[in-house]
Amino acid sequence: MIAAGDAKTAQIVADFPILAKPTSRGKRLVYLDSAASSQKPQAVIDSLVDYYTNYNANIHRGVYEIAARATDAYEAARAKVAAFINAAEPAEIIFTRNATEAINLVSFTWGLTNLKPGDAILTTQLEHHSNLVPWQLLAAKTGAELRFIEIDDEGNLLLDDLEEKLSGVKLVALTHISNTLGSIVPLDEIVPLAHAAGAVVLVDGAQSVPHLPIDVRDLEVDFFAASGHKMCGPTGIGFLYGRRALLEAMPPFLTGGDMIKSVAYTEASFNELPWKFEAGTSNIADAIALGVACDYLTGVGMEWIRAHEVFLTRYALERLQPLVPRGLAIYGPPRADDRAGVISFNFADIHAHDLASLLDLEGVCIRAGHHCTMPLMDKFNWPATARASFYLYNTEADIDALVNALEKAATVFRIP
Ligand SMILES: Cc1ncc(COP(=O)(O)O)c(C=O)c1O
Repeated sequence: MIAAGDAKTAQIVADFPILAKPTSRGKRLVYLDSAASSQKPQAVIDSLVDYYTNYNANIHRGVYEIAARATDAYEAARAKVAAFINAAEPAEIIFTRNATEAINLVSFTWGLTNLKPGDAILTTQLEHHSNLVPWQLLAAKTGAELRFIEIDDEGNLLLDDLEEKLSGVKLVALTHISNTLGSIVPLDEIVPLAHAAGAVVLVDGAQSVPHLPIDVRDLEVDFFAASGHKMCGPTGIGFLYGRRALLEAMPPFLTGGDMIKSVAYTEASFNELPWKFEAGTSNIADAIALGVACDYLTGVGMEWIRAHEVFLTRYALERLQPLVPRGLAIYGPPRADDRAGVISFNFADIHAHDLASLLDLEGVCIRAGHHCTMPLMDKFNWPATARASFYLYNTEADIDALVNALEKAATVFRIP
């Protein structure tokens, strides 16, 4: 078992400067909202400063030295992302603003080109709005049907009738990890059946790529979307992985500069992959810093990160247990090994927002609300949940602070 307080964890905590800064109330910052956005290590922050200080220039255009250096660093970052998820080649990585834009890219290009009335899109009841609303709109535009894999009370997909559900399905679009319940989707069971039915598979990896070792070729997925800001990178940068054959066949998404090969007054031809999908000036500094985030995570070790989060989740579930008889309801799969480091809960009749505000007084940052999964909230009849989520820099002391703050909240609300 990995001790969360060991020397490696201490070094990781020291890599994140914000964690050493007390809150405005003088409390230790206990950051338990990494599912919303992760903190950034010094190496990532330094990379942003380095770019703007030393070689800020536009890419793919200038012939002068700093422009060439910026171009090389940007393309090297693409290669780092490709290696991080084991894509076959860097050209299969398209830089986007975030996971949401990556999913919309597929919806507007592959989706509008390939779907027609009589086809179906299969998704799940777990999805974040970013992997649901694009398919609602695509279904409305193309006349395709939108179908759902249902879930049980713990957030596990019910797969008994999957083969039946896949009939006529052209696209399976599903999350890898639920951002609300922490449940992990068994892609190894679903992807082969989806392909056997002739469907293309898109995985929303926003919650998985920061926390698990990911190998897109081993998973045999066709598209994979993620956000840099949840994996120690900056905001404003994410990526879409797509298999070359699919990307080649897709029309461009946004159009304009950089994505063209040649332009005449009345027509244009388009650039090669991956630039065909990167119109306009790219988010250069943030892409480079995302590459540094990949280096950082690889240096720590993705297997270690997963094991550390399972350890913390198990510890948290044990520490929270004594509050259950006092009205604490914990959602998601009961075993730490079956879930990601995300714990959604409600405490007696305290509204999740009140709970989050009381915890904030103690320096404990958690998320409260619908977590961009309103249909899931409606399904379970929860007005909101509180959510604590863990990452590589969290420790047992952070969990202890969460439990202590919950006990204080119970006192404020006179919970026996
Ligand atoms: C599962 C999942 N998908 C997609 C997203 C959207 O990410 P972004 O807002 O960075 O595009 C999130 C963000 O919380 C998420 O948790």
